[in-house]
Amino acid sequence: MSVVRSEWREVGIHTVGYVAAIVAFVLCCQALAAPVAGTVHVAAPSGQQLSMTMKIDEAKTTLSLTGPSYSWFSFGFDTTTMEGYSLIVEGLNDARTVVEQNLLGSGTPGSPQAIQNVSILGTSYDAAQNLTTIVLERANQTGDPNDPSFSTSMTSLDVIWAYRGSATPALPSPTLNYHGRNGRGDVSLTFSPAPEPATVVSLALAAIGWLIQPRQWRRRARA
Ligand code: HEM
Repeated sequence: MSVVRSEWREVGIHTVGYVAAIVAFVLCCQALAAPVAGTVHVAAPSGQQLSMTMKIDEAKTTLSLTGPSYSWFSFGFDTTTMEGYSLIVEGLNDARTVVEQNLLGSGTPGSPQAIQNVSILGTSYDAAQNLTTIVLERANQTGDPNDPSFSTSMTSLDVIWAYRGSATPALPSPTLNYHGRNGRGDVSLTFSPAPEPATVVSLALAAIGWLIQPRQWRRRARA
């Protein structure tokens, strides 16, 4: 009788242990903010394609900027007019540089920030489509008062874009200059949850916990 009671007590303790472990995993996953991502596609009046993808993780943001391979191009953040934080990509094809620059108002582009906080992860050039893509990384909070913070709680963002609207492969424009009326505009970017490896791992661990549990009970019952 007492053996049966102690076995049941052990079973109870194990069940509480596993449930506690699963609750801990769930709480842990909630504490780690889930990444979000979003993309904007722009078709300029000339038919030129530009796009930007942002993936915001817990601590850093990865940006993928695509624009004409024969022109400088730029995206600006949290604005519908020519002002505030922007990333300006200069050069041609896959020979590119990027700067953080705060635009001061319509017609006044300002100059590159004194402290630059973006790093280039890679650049690719699609000759058939005349497109360049540059992939960048930046800390969500750089500590630089000139940089906006990015956060996984963001749901949408106003974005401006620009390039030298009159440039062509035969008439390239690598250095920042007036975009012209057809070379600028604004769009809205919407964020949605991005796949998170941590959730998959924790779910797998929780599942293993549940699978192991009856096996131990069976082994104990046989002994
Ligand atoms: C040398 C650099 C630049 C010059 C001289 C310049 C000049 C101008 C001028 C004169 C206007 C008003 C006329 C128009 O609508 O076209 C304008 C508007 C605009 N610019 Fe620029 N720009 C420059 C760089 C940029 C950059 C890097 C962006 C970033 C995406 C940008 C985004 C815009 C936008 C969205 C507008 C329309 C809204 C507004 O007037 O504020 N510009 N720019």
